[in-house]
Amino acid sequence: MLNIHDATNHSYKSVRKSAFFLDWRTQPKAFKNYPHFYLRYKISDYPALENLNLIGGITFEKEYPEGKYYLRTVPSAGALYPFELYLQLRGINGLPNGIYHYEPLKATLTLLHEIESDGIEHYFPNPKRRSGIEFLVSAVYFRSSWKYRDRALRYIFLDNGHQLGAIYAALTVMGKESIIDLDFDKAALNKKFGFIEGEMFTASLHSSSETEKEAKAIPLNLPFVCASDYLEPNNFIKEAYEQSVDYTDTPFTPPQLFLNIPKEQLREAIINRRSIRAFRGERISKESFTFIIQDLFEFANSHNIDIFYTLHRVEDTTEGLYKNAQLLKEGDFKEKSRYLSLEQNLGGESAATLYFTSSDLEKYQKASILSGFIAHIIYLRCQLQAIGCSGIGAYYDEEAKSFLNTDNNILYLLAIGK
Ligand SMILES: Cc1cc2nc3c(=O)[nH]c(=O)nc-3n(C[C@H](O)[C@H](O)[C@H](O)COP(=O)(O)O)c2cc1C
Repeated sequence: MLNIHDATNHSYKSVRKSAFFLDWRTQPKAFKNYPHFYLRYKISDYPALENLNLIGGITFEKEYPEGKYYLRTVPSAGALYPFELYLQLRGINGLPNGIYHYEPLKATLTLLHEIESDGIEHYFPNPKRRSGIEFLVSAVYFRSSWKYRDRALRYIFLDNGHQLGAIYAALTVMGKESIIDLDFDKAALNKKFGFIEGEMFTASLHSSSETEKEAKAIPLNLPFVCASDYLEPNNFIKEAYEQSVDYTDTPFTPPQLFLNIPKEQLREAIINRRSIRAFRGERISKESFTFIIQDLFEFANSHNIDIFYTLHRVEDTTEGLYKNAQLLKEGDFKEKSRYLSLEQNLGGESAATLYFTSSDLEKYQKASILSGFIAHIIYLRCQLQAIGCSGIGAYYDEEAKSFLNTDNNILYLLAIGK
């Protein structure tokens, strides 16, 4: 069996030995487009979908000689966005019941298939039809493996987790609930959605309520449209996905993660969220830090994720290394965290650098996706406190493990500060 995590470790040596040259002209496109003659619905035309575009809409545009560059409500390693989003709507005012593809660039939903008694619920352990909105997140690995090669395996799951977090936050603004459901027949749905190569489902979220009748199988396969304009298959990622895709899990509702935050304030935070590019090295208050991390350790632990962190610049706290809010070792670990983050200054100039870890190889996809999800909540809480935040996907794996004194796999780092 392939150790899919260790196979993509970075080390001081491996990073220096890599002779891979990236040709930016060959970057695959980051948006999937269904044919122009498919019916499209503009999200802003439907009051029932107010604020839905916060799930992944464009929040920043920049013109370069090579073309336009778009950033979204969702962060992504290298801004490569290796994911697509599909929605099933049932009983939403003014819209046909059906399966739709979300197009962030146009803020539209493209109708792929009208449903009646059939539906995606058929491919879940509980096949009862649901009324409301169902979200399906897929990974489009080549957008990321084009640059990051095999290590993209990690980024697709983390980015998919951020995408789930963005959906959760948008639904909070919409006053709707979220149930995360990671256990469904992804292989069957990959086939139904016509994914021939390079795209595969990873996660789902229900914002809907169960009805009496069961959904029937979707009678036909949806037409294949490639999510990137070209594709270099990556056998390692395909194999690693297959190996980690089947696991049993119970759907769960996350705790209320934006408790007492006025909806308008959360909406602003979602729209204004960005990854910080450099910290000024200022301190943050203990209250802000407590606000940013509250309830997250418990949530993470209940899904087999341990969060370690080094505190560098948080007022009225002891500098040192912590695990799940417990001080393990007092000391100044700024330089250590900078080094471990592949010598990126973000890791050491932060107020705190968090390390998401898990020993759960059986639910590797889940642990990675949920790390991205929790990191997304932290991003938005930082934004609410006018504190900067950045994901760090590039770090020295084995050295980080030995610094944290853990056998857990290190899934993700996150730097927060000013
Ligand atoms: C999984 C993940 C890994 C990332 N890794 C790094 C990193 O190692 N270094 C860095 O400077 N930024 C990193 N980022 C931040 C991205 O570069 C950033 O999200 C992207 O450029 C889009 O910009 P935005 O977040 O401001 O929308 C990471 C983001 C994610 C989601």
